[in-house]
Amino acid sequence: MESLFLKNFRNYLQQQVYFHPRVNIISGENGFGKTNLIEAVYYLSVTRSFRTSNDHELAGFPGRFFFIKGLFSKDEDKHLLQISYNENQLKVIIDNDRKKRFDHLCLFPVVVFSPDDLLIIREGPATRRRFINLHVSRLNQYYFQELRSYHRVLLQRNKLLKEKKNRRDLEKLLEPWDDSLIDHGCTVIRLRKEMIRLLAKEATPFFSRMTGQQEELSLEYIGSVDSEEDNADLQLLFRELLLKKREVEIRRQVTMVGPHLDDLSIIIDEKDSRKFSSQGQKRTAALALKIAEAKMLYKKNGKWPILLLDDVFSEFDNKRKERIIEFLSGIDSQCFLTSSIALDPFLMEMARNYKVFNVQRGVVRDEKDGDSC
Ligand SMILES: Nc1ncnc2c1ncn2[C@@H]1O[C@H](COP(=O)(O)OP(=O)(O)OP(=O)(O)O)[C@@H](O)[C@H]1O
Ligand SMILES: [Mg+2]
Repeated sequence: MESLFLKNFRNYLQQQVYFHPRVNIISGENGFGKTNLIEAVYYLSVTRSFRTSNDHELAGFPGRFFFIKGLFSKDEDKHLLQISYNENQLKVIIDNDRKKRFDHLCLFPVVVFSPDDLLIIREGPATRRRFINLHVSRLNQYYFQELRSYHRVLLQRNKLLKEKKNRRDLEKLLEPWDDSLIDHGCTVIRLRKEMIRLLAKEATPFFSRMTGQQEELSLEYIGSVDSEEDNADLQLLFRELLLKKREVEIRRQVTMVGPHLDDLSIIIDEKDSRKFSSQGQKRTAALALKIAEAKMLYKKNGKWPILLLDDVFSEFDNKRKERIIEFLSGIDSQCFLTSSIALDPFLMEMARNYKVFNVQRGVVRDEKDGDSC
């Protein structure tokens, strides 16, 4: 990404920034706007924030509109992406074409690592499902469509279960919805499992590298429709389970089988990291998942995605910090690193070759030029 322009976005009234093609270090005190800046980059790429699903929050107080514009380079070409938000209306324009939200999910990929990513490990299955869904959607648009269809069917099926119908009528009405639920559900499960296998292939070596080959990470898909056998007929299994759960579903008025209930198990040295790992181990595992995501995008596109690393150094010991720098130096991704510690020696080492910005209450300054950007 070459440049970014913000208007009324979070605490930025109006700001233009020109970035370095490799490493951009964004420093500044707490609450000055470092995360806001990378949030804008992420928003341009994903048309959604990684901190909130409520666009309203992104508009500078009193919160009625915002505008973000970014110039991206892709295969020798440059593309101008503009997003404006006004009173709940979102307008996305790429070059001169109007686009629908999420339509360009695969075009200018970014991967963010933020302190909240610890929640992927620490929280319940819903957070991990969100991570998997976004990850797989960005690699495979077909998955995104299938997931949407699955959720539409799920919604209708749950609505039906809530209507007070006699048993015979209900069973009849459920039939076509069951077929669609199984159909889309099995595709979602199949693609998720495949992607998690590939994700683990990338996450495991990065995690080992970060821990000096001392610890081992593994990932496992926990499905509500699953079998020990590799070639089991998922559709058949899904149908059997739906029949088995029929009574409970009617009593509870909700669908109780399917990928909307599945989970990803993150295991460090054969122990469930959610229950047994330290804070630093969890953060390392979360970073490994994000780097693996980036690596998969690299393999798909032949180009690293933009890496947004928010406060990546906090809570890591010096060895891990060193290994992160070493890793970042070895790839040709454009990276954005935020830090509230101005003189972090590891960052200073990097800063010599690249660009450092200082953020002060919604104003970005290029440290070397001394000017506000
Ligand atoms: N919609 C908004 N309008 C105006 N200001 C906002 C809005 N949302 C957040 N802010 C302000 O943005 C600031 C927080 O910015 P940000 O999260 O980027 O800080 P930071 O530099 O990353 O801090 P830290 O080092 O603590 O992570 C706060 O001062 C907050 O009041
Ligand atoms: Mg921050």
